[in-house]
Formats: sequence, structure tokens, C-alpha cells
Amino acid sequence: MSAPIDFAALPHDFLWGTATSAYQIEGAVAEDGRSPSIWDTFSHTPGKIDNDDHGDIACDHYRRWPQDVDLMKQLGVDAYRLSIAWPRVVPGGDGPVNARGLDFYDRLIDGLLAAGITPSVTLYHWDLPQVLQDRGGWPERETAEHFAAYASVVAERLGDRVSHWATLNEPLCSAWIGHLEGRMAPGLTDLTAAVRASYHLLLGHGLATQAIRAAAPGAEIGIVNNLSPVHPATDRTEDLGAARRVDGHVNRWWLDPVHGRGFPADMREVYGVELPERPGDLDTIAAPLDWLGLNYYFPAYVADDPNGPVPYGTSIRRDDVPRTGMDWEIEADGIESLLLRLTEDYGARKIYVTENGSSFPDVVRPDGTIDDQERVDYLERHLSACTSAARKGAPLAGYFAWSLLDNFEWAYGYDKRFGLVHVDYATQTRTVKSSGHRYADIVRAHRTIHAD
Ligand code: IFM
Repeated sequence: MSAPIDFAALPHDFLWGTATSAYQIEGAVAEDGRSPSIWDTFSHTPGKIDNDDHGDIACDHYRRWPQDVDLMKQLGVDAYRLSIAWPRVVPGGDGPVNARGLDFYDRLIDGLLAAGITPSVTLYHWDLPQVLQDRGGWPERETAEHFAAYASVVAERLGDRVSHWATLNEPLCSAWIGHLEGRMAPGLTDLTAAVRASYHLLLGHGLATQAIRAAAPGAEIGIVNNLSPVHPATDRTEDLGAARRVDGHVNRWWLDPVHGRGFPADMREVYGVELPERPGDLDTIAAPLDWLGLNYYFPAYVADDPNGPVPYGTSIRRDDVPRTGMDWEIEADGIESLLLRLTEDYGARKIYVTENGSSFPDVVRPDGTIDDQERVDYLERHLSACTSAARKGAPLAGYFAWSLLDNFEWAYGYDKRFGLVHVDYATQTRTVKSSGHRYADIVRAHRTIHAD
């Protein structure tokens, strides 16, 4: 049994949720006027995705969403974090709005509300319309401007019913993994493009924040970052320096600008790429936010790597530590330290854990059940660490388990399963795993404590 979850440390209106994203679950990629995104292109490029999987059908959520809303009801969650597919809503990237695309989200939001589930909407979870990539994508400023226009369209339509908004999901992945490491769409390995993309993603975040506020006064807006505590592999000065650089690359580059501190000077020097700055941009990027979203999966232990790629620090693989099926190290204390860092160093006033979860090779037993005790343990340990952070003062307002469903895990395809609910892709049958049942118990336990 892992450390206890200190429910009393959480507020009575704590939001218990699950999360997904459009491309990972919807399927129906050519339905109702949707245009291809960079992920359609990337996943259909041979060799980019394990087993050459793609999101054409995924969990068929586009058609099966009422069943998925029922599942959430069954789990008893308060909230659902979903993302909107830009290529469904504005298939040309900019310009005409596709009414049928917006209608889908309209129905989904109404279905959630009717089920008593609060929607939390993310506007960008990596599925840039391919047409915009063809015009240069995130390295170009106009993409940030088009993003704000798209945000305005969505907020105008849904803002009367949706109050929780996130602009970007994990811009680090879009910029660094998509433009520098090439392991995600659009698959580039170009430092200048990556740094420019990072800048325009954050500019897009700021512009979209303004657009949402104008279209939906009263909206609560945040940004979702995937952060990692970064530890030096040894006490050597070189490794300490590497840890500082990797921390700059994965954490400070994304947090400092939105907190009005600009882009970290040390990292500007490490990248050596001129930022496409214009007067006023930094103020736009630092538009006041209502909350911060933390996605946490694993820590980093890094060693100096002067001849390696930017940021010249490499993650080492430590022996004898527990790992998930992604080979990611399990370190529940990491979520606590990040929540406290956001609170103490960045003055966060409200934080949601917008994603946290684990992939393990699930076994479907002959009776059809999935007893995923490793995932249960991961969940309990991380929730325990979250409540410990709350006890120490972190203003934690909610937790969204990643993920509601097994889904398309990007470059890893369908073999990696993160769901609280198992998906049999051949039949699209959903089965709640032991972790889903445990999560339902946890939600109930929190309610019971606060009802007393
Ligand atoms: O599946 C992803 C999600 O899209 C973004 N955050 C991390 C998850 C697990 O890798």
C-alpha cells in the first residue's frame, strides 16, 4: 500500500477529472469537413509511428462520444479535459469556419453538461492544420495570429457554457520534439525552426488568451506545461551546469515568459538563435492567467554532454528504479516538488494537474477484466504526493487523470495504453480497468470526507 491520500488537504470543490485529446481519440479524420492536420501527415509517413499506426479511427470517439460521457458518469468524475481539433473548426487554418466541426463540440459540451460534468477545453493539443504547416507552421508569426482567430471562434460559440479554457497543451513537445528532435509532427530537426516555433507558440498563447477573454468574459484561462524536476547525475560541476541547462530547456523557457520574466537569458545564449521579437510581444505572452496546468510523468537525471545536441545535457538511465511501460522513471515526489515550485517560485494562485498517468502492458483476463495494479499504485502514489503538496500550501484545485481511454500514443501508436478504461480497438469495446474503479472510489472518498 502506498502513502495515504490526504483528502482533507484538498478543497471541498476540488475537481476530479479525466483527460484526452482530439487526435488521440476522435478518429473520423475526413468527416464533416475536417482537413488533415500535421499529425495525419506525420502518422501516414512510413516509419514514423510504431506499427505504422495512425489516428484515422482511434477510439471512434467522434461517433461514440455519448458512450464515453456515460463512462465518465460511471466513474463519477466532476470534469473532463478535452481538446478541440483546429482542422475541424477552421479547416483552412484561417478564414471560413466549418459549422459542422463546431457543431460536434457543441453537442459534446451539451452532453457533458447534461451529465453533470464540467468541460475543460484545450484549444491546441498538437494538431495544426496541415495547410498552415505548408505555409511555414509555428516558426512563422502568422500561425500565432491564426491561432488567436481560431480561439476567438471557439470561445464565441462555446463560451456561454465553457468556463475552463487552456490555450496550449505542452508547447515543449510541439517545439522541441516536433521541430528539434523530429520525433513528433512536423518531424523537423532544425534548431532555428524549433526556437522560432517556441516563441510563436507562446505568442499564440498570449494572443489567444486575449481573444478568449474578449469572447467569453468570465472565462478562466490557463496554459498546460509538461514539466520535470531535473537532477544532476553527479555532483560534478559539469553535471550541475547540465542540469541547469536542461531545467532551462524543459521548465524555465516555458514558465518564465508567461510570468513576465522574459525568455531566460542563459538559454538564449545556449540556443544562440535570434528570437523573432517585436515590441509588445513579451507583454502579450505574459497576459495574466487564472491558473497553471501541470502535466507530470517523470523526472530527469542529467549528465553533461558537451558534444551532444542542445541543451548539451543528456538524460541518464538509472538502474534499479521503478519504471512504467514507457520506460519512464516513477518518482511520485516529482509532482510534489513541481507543485511547490510553481507555488513558491512562480506565485501560482491556482494549479490543476491537467495530466498524470502511466502506461503499462495491460492483460485482459479470460473473464474480460483488466487488473492493472501497477497503474493503481502509480495513481495512488502520485495523488498522495499531490495532497502532500496541497498540505504544504500548493493551491491545487483539480486533478485530471491521463487518460480516460487507451488511445493513440503518438509515435508509439496503440501499443502503449494509458487509459483508466481499456479499449479493444478491433471492436471498440470499452472496459473499466481496476484503476478506473479505484479512481471512482477515490472520488467518492473525497466527497464523503467533505460531506461529514
Ligand atoms: O499522450 C500524451 C498526451 O497527449 C500529452 N501528454 C503526455 C501523454 C502521455 O505521453
